[in-house]
Amino acid sequence: MARHEELPIPIFSDLEPVYGSGSQLEEAQLRFKNLKAKFIDLFGQSPHVYARSPGRVNLIGEHIDYEGYSVLPMAIRQDTIVAIRKHDSSEPQKLLRIANVNSDKYSLCTYPADPLQEVDLKNHRWGHYFICGYKGFYEYAKLKGIDVGKPVGLDVIVDGTVPTGSGLSSSAAFVCSSFIAIMASIGVNMPKKEIAQLTCECERHIGTQSGGMDQAISVMAKSGFAELIDFNPIRATDVQLPDGGTFVIAHSLAESQKAVTAAVNYNNRVVECRLAAIVLGIKLGMEPKEAISSVKTLSDVEGLCVSFAGTHSSSDPVLAVKELLHEEPYTSEDVENITKEKVETIFAASPTSLDVLRAAKCYKLHQRAAHVYSEAKRVHAFKDTVSSELSDEDMLKKLGDLMNDSHHSCSVLYECSCPELEELVKICRDNGALGARLTGAGWGGCAVALVKESLVPQFILNLKEQFYQSRIDKGTISKNDLGLFIFASKPSSGAAILKF
Ligand code: GLA
Repeated sequence: MARHEELPIPIFSDLEPVYGSGSQLEEAQLRFKNLKAKFIDLFGQSPHVYARSPGRVNLIGEHIDYEGYSVLPMAIRQDTIVAIRKHDSSEPQKLLRIANVNSDKYSLCTYPADPLQEVDLKNHRWGHYFICGYKGFYEYAKLKGIDVGKPVGLDVIVDGTVPTGSGLSSSAAFVCSSFIAIMASIGVNMPKKEIAQLTCECERHIGTQSGGMDQAISVMAKSGFAELIDFNPIRATDVQLPDGGTFVIAHSLAESQKAVTAAVNYNNRVVECRLAAIVLGIKLGMEPKEAISSVKTLSDVEGLCVSFAGTHSSSDPVLAVKELLHEEPYTSEDVENITKEKVETIFAASPTSLDVLRAAKCYKLHQRAAHVYSEAKRVHAFKDTVSSELSDEDMLKKLGDLMNDSHHSCSVLYECSCPELEELVKICRDNGALGARLTGAGWGGCAVALVKESLVPQFILNLKEQFYQSRIDKGTISKNDLGLFIFASKPSSGAAILKF
């Protein structure tokens, strides 16, 4: 049987295979009914087809996907639905009209039906994410020589329930559902792993140098399983989580603005990792020119680091980091003395990296590399624990410990936490979580806590009291919205096309 990443996106004519039964199904039926009614109201006709793609919570493996390492996320029930209608090719004015069910917050965006248009990064608009999917689809069709005809106008309404800026991948859910809706409206389908790869590349039009985790899990998730996602090539392996534990997701209420802060946060770390990898490569015997041209990620020099560790009776690449990279931050000049090249020249082909260099004062190569290599190991330790013979209780304890170690590394070495997340993670642990950590890019957004199933209701109540109540009193959030900010989640299903 084909592995699930080889299969195309499933097409369903009812909602049950996607949303299961019970209240979740009823909620989904209502959403689709409203979406269709809004569509007819706004555009005068029904949508041709719908696509949905979920958000995700990453259980472990943070900031290592873009370094080539495996990660272990699961899809959550919150998702983005895109309803779409293709215009007639004879229509003179070819426009993409992108509306949102939440029109108070997201007003109608209009773009020309031109796949070559640039995404205007200086003027960030919510509709840009649709344009990422749109450009990506046409780039793919061109590359593969698929005749999709001349671009025509599209009417679109988006309904997203993944909270934005939460670290739960609202952007990937939006880009993936847009890409799939466009693809389905043209009558094309393709293997999930290709869509995962393409949507990752097309989201980079927004200016972040993201890895492929969010899109891969959104497209390839399976109900009831977390997935171990490998890259190069993309592959998903089902991970059955042990009984008796539940993942609770809690928002720190600090918004994580990944795209807007890319030059100082997300893309900065990508640049630091590349510099760390080049410097390690050189220290381990590569010619500077060769290292600059061939070393892109820390995984490219892992073999060299492991060989070095071998000469010290170890197999841990972190040993090479400790011995060869100093803890004190590197200035550009320090790096250039080693690489014999201007940092601007190393990154000359990447405008978003040049933005990082302009904003950076120095580079913490030791800390970033130590995080990446140790976090990559924790992902495999997590997977091995889940498939071990340990009792459920011991297994949950071990998984919790790995999550705590991951958070420590993110916070201290990678510095992608923030005061609100630190407070929240501590409150989770004080209230009996077996482990708790920030999830997603960080710098705000959510924490994920592993909690014994029997304790979940009390755990949520305690967090409401100890973290959220003061924010309700200050008016930061409304009491009625609490369910949006703290909830338990089971692994949900991945992307789907819906035709009724
Ligand atoms: C964001 C990116 C992912 C990944 C995480 C951090 O969600 O989109 O590719 O790098 O941050 O693990």
